[in-house]
Amino acid sequence: MKQPIISFKHVVKCYDDDVPVLKDITFDIEEGKFYTLLGPSGCGKTTILRMIAGFSEPTKGDIFFEGQRINEVPANKRQVNTVFQDYALFPHMNVYDNIAFGLKIKKMPRDVIDQKVKEALKMVQLAGYEKRGINEMSGGQRQRVAIARAIVNEPKVLLLDEPLSALDHKLRLAMQYELRELQQRLGITFIFVTHDQEEALAMSDEIFVLDNGNIVQTGSPVDIYDEPINHYVADFIGESNIIEGIMLRDNLVKFAGKEFECVDEGIRENEPVEVVLRPEDLDLTDVDHGKLKVTVDTVLFRGVHYEIICHDEVQNEWMVHTTKKAEPGSLIGLYFDPEDIHVMRFNESEAEFDARLDSYEG
Ligand SMILES: Nc1ncnc2c1ncn2[C@@H]1O[C@H](COP(=O)(O)OP(=O)(O)O)[C@@H](O)[C@H]1O
Ligand SMILES: [Mg+2]
Repeated sequence: MKQPIISFKHVVKCYDDDVPVLKDITFDIEEGKFYTLLGPSGCGKTTILRMIAGFSEPTKGDIFFEGQRINEVPANKRQVNTVFQDYALFPHMNVYDNIAFGLKIKKMPRDVIDQKVKEALKMVQLAGYEKRGINEMSGGQRQRVAIARAIVNEPKVLLLDEPLSALDHKLRLAMQYELRELQQRLGITFIFVTHDQEEALAMSDEIFVLDNGNIVQTGSPVDIYDEPINHYVADFIGESNIIEGIMLRDNLVKFAGKEFECVDEGIRENEPVEVVLRPEDLDLTDVDHGKLKVTVDTVLFRGVHYEIICHDEVQNEWMVHTTKKAEPGSLIGLYFDPEDIHVMRFNESEAEFDARLDSYEG
């Protein structure tokens, strides 16, 4: 790997009461990629961004930018800009002055400022809006002004703290697409914060999943979706059936009172585990051909598929997404393939998990 643009090494953050809100954060950010910090409210996402931006210092540990330790470097000396959740625009200034503000403070010549502001506006598809007042802009347009104001400084890294959470659903989806496209066009590193797993899956090259001040898993959207490291990640990223089981030996797991072939290896014999099966990996069949016998409880039409809730003979509840219809109260078969079963150990570290994946992926 090239030298990372940003590294955290064993960063701990405590506010007044000595209870750490970040516990031991270590990660590398590679230049030019789209990263997302994903986790529920209060898990420490904004605290990480504030330390990258230089608004807050670590209590312990070190932060590096292109290999240089920057713990004490003030915000205005960092090549980083932030887009805040509430945009933090100046309401009494027009679009042009909002975007030009930072450049004027740096005392750049007027014609250079002019050119840079125009370019930034073009970048966010707001060319011609220079004279508009902020209060005359829609939510999505303000969002773009905030982005233009950040990219006009040509930062090496752009930090975005839940920038889409104030927008309605449709605009939000459009802005997800735009942001992703903008990142690819500019080629600069984006670090995006959200509590919305679908947003993280749609936009990112790499996701860091946070749980209460720890990064519990890092990986591509596909890695994290297909191979969640633990119950928390499996539950947080998409809908899952999570069932308790026993790993009998390599490639054989027992749950719901039956034994199943699977692809997981490297777990102790007879170790208690949790088993994840995604609703879209399950299918319905007749009772005789099913791997499990289930009774249908409810059937909801969801547009593209039916969402079927059913229970097996030992009362585990299962959610199935399928294009097949079923009758509530009927007894049917549940079908899945060995590779649809994903086994998780209790309390496995990310390093152990990676080693185990490597061992059976070859
Ligand atoms: N300035 C502060 N003083 C004391 N506690 C804080 C401060 N800022 C954040 N916290 C606490 O740190 C934790 C993480 O907050 P934050 O990073 O804002 O989480 P997130 O952005 O993931 O919602 C929360 O428990 C929050 O209450
Ligand atoms: Mg936050």
